Amino acid sequence: MYQEGKIFLGKAGEEKVFIYPKMANRHGLIAGATGTGKTVTLKVLAESFSDCGVPVFFADVKGDLAAMCNIGSANENLQKRIDALGLASEGFEYRSYPTCFWDVYGEYGMPLRTTISEMGPLLLSRIMDLNETQADILSLVFKIADDENLLLIDTKDLRSMLQYVSENAAQYSAQYGNIAKQSVAAITRSLVALEAEGGELFFGEPALDIKDWIRTDNTGKGVIQVLDCRKLIQNPTMYATFLLWMMSELFETLPEAGDLDKPRMIFFFDEAHLLFEDAPKSLKSKIEQVVKLIRSKGVGIYFVTQKPSDVPDGVLSQLGNKVQHALRAYTPAEQKAVKAAAQSYRENPAFDTYNTLLELGIGEALVSVLDESGVPTMVQRCTILPPQSQMGALDDTIRQREIQNNPLYVRYAESVDRDSAYEFLSRHAMQTAEAKVAEKEAQAQAKAAEKEAQARAKATKRAVSSVASTAAGTIGREIGNALGKSVGGSFGKKLGGNLGASLGRGLLKTFLK
Ligand SMILES: Nc1ncnc2c1ncn2[C@@H]1O[C@H](COP(=O)(O)OP(=O)(O)OP(=O)(O)O)[C@@H](O)[C@H]1O
Ligand SMILES: [Mg+2]
Repeated sequence: MYQEGKIFLGKAGEEKVFIYPKMANRHGLIAGATGTGKTVTLKVLAESFSDCGVPVFFADVKGDLAAMCNIGSANENLQKRIDALGLASEGFEYRSYPTCFWDVYGEYGMPLRTTISEMGPLLLSRIMDLNETQADILSLVFKIADDENLLLIDTKDLRSMLQYVSENAAQYSAQYGNIAKQSVAAITRSLVALEAEGGELFFGEPALDIKDWIRTDNTGKGVIQVLDCRKLIQNPTMYATFLLWMMSELFETLPEAGDLDKPRMIFFFDEAHLLFEDAPKSLKSKIEQVVKLIRSKGVGIYFVTQKPSDVPDGVLSQLGNKVQHALRAYTPAEQKAVKAAAQSYRENPAFDTYNTLLELGIGEALVSVLDESGVPTMVQRCTILPPQSQMGALDDTIRQREIQNNPLYVRYAESVDRDSAYEFLSRHAMQTAEAKVAEKEAQAQAKAAEKEAQARAKATKRAVSSVASTAAGTIGREIGNALGKSVGGSFGKKLGGNLGASLGRGLLKTFLK
């Protein structure tokens, strides 16, 4: 709930626990074992940020968040919580929230597309599981496309670009460094696999303009962008890469903001461990850097995961607002992780952090936030508010209606295939082929003409010598009137046909002169 200009998250006994909008861009963590209440906490936070006029993005991994577009309904458990927290007098009411559905596969939301060049070689290499050499070559291919002003929008653009570079590998190797054809072939194979996994759908246009996400509705509530990830999460690397891409888009799009009264946008990363698992070092340090810098652009990032240790230390140390649900400590490794989690809080003399972490009930959490002056508050044992919107899954018919009624639907529903590298290179290949055919034809024609000329020359030579000899013979033998007849006759016979006749005529004429 949004109260007194603050995000009311829950109660520690009689005391209200708030997150300060001014400090909400100092990022956050929602952690806890499975079933302890992380998703509901995320929901409660998203609702409050929306009420506060802050746009929100989150990935819906299980499909249990989308129903925020519907008004919540009472049940026994919720009522118990409402009573226990005394929320009736706090203005708690069931309500719906402005939501916008997206899906990279275009099934459970508006199609969320990006272009190959916006995704960039680093993230693409990760999706395509390329080794270091292949990743370097992919970067070169991007550079060549850039230098040649070729747009890389969809996967067929990249495919034709790879083919083009491979065909001209010698030339480009000299200019850009070694480009092994085998590596290009391996990249192409990975690309084909990516296309089969849906790459053909989500690389294309119209690409998402992330500014469309930074919106409030006409009542001033922040619009909640819900990315349906039930299918995407089946490929964890792809899921992680997409979320990273969104974060980097936000980072690149938004100008520096300094300290604002409230964030420009809040971003929730569910299943956050997937962002870092198996990520190459270069990518991890990039994430760390973006998390650090995006704060000053007014974006708060909240990582949702089971254990705090799922998030690398460099990122963890930047998370100012922490909601830690119950943890389990059955194994020595788990005990160690709980100890580390407990030690990361400012102790509260009223209870033992470690033991409390193990005994927290569902929808209860240890909470520490940054106070108005940016100092971490003492850890509090907090009962989290219930959500105001509907819990559970969203009916498919309602979802489709919501999608089609969205004003952005007209803009994003249909894909557009613009003239880009594929079209250009196809034309180029066709023109090259046509030029080759024309060149061959020209060569053949030249050859034929040459042959003809040779033949003509030969014939002329023969005719001349024949005319000469015949003429000489005739002159010698008959002398007088028979001359023209004999010459014409013998010459005509030797050359044959019209050509012979006309040549004979001409020659005869000259001869007779
Ligand atoms: N703040 C709360 N108010 C009311 N009910 C809650 C609250 N927190 C948790 N619950 C109840 O506990 C159930 C499990 O919570 P939730 O789905 O948030 O767990 P989770 O930690 O996200 O689990 P998982 O790791 O499996 O995703 C909810 O469906 C809801 O019934
Ligand atoms: Mg959950």
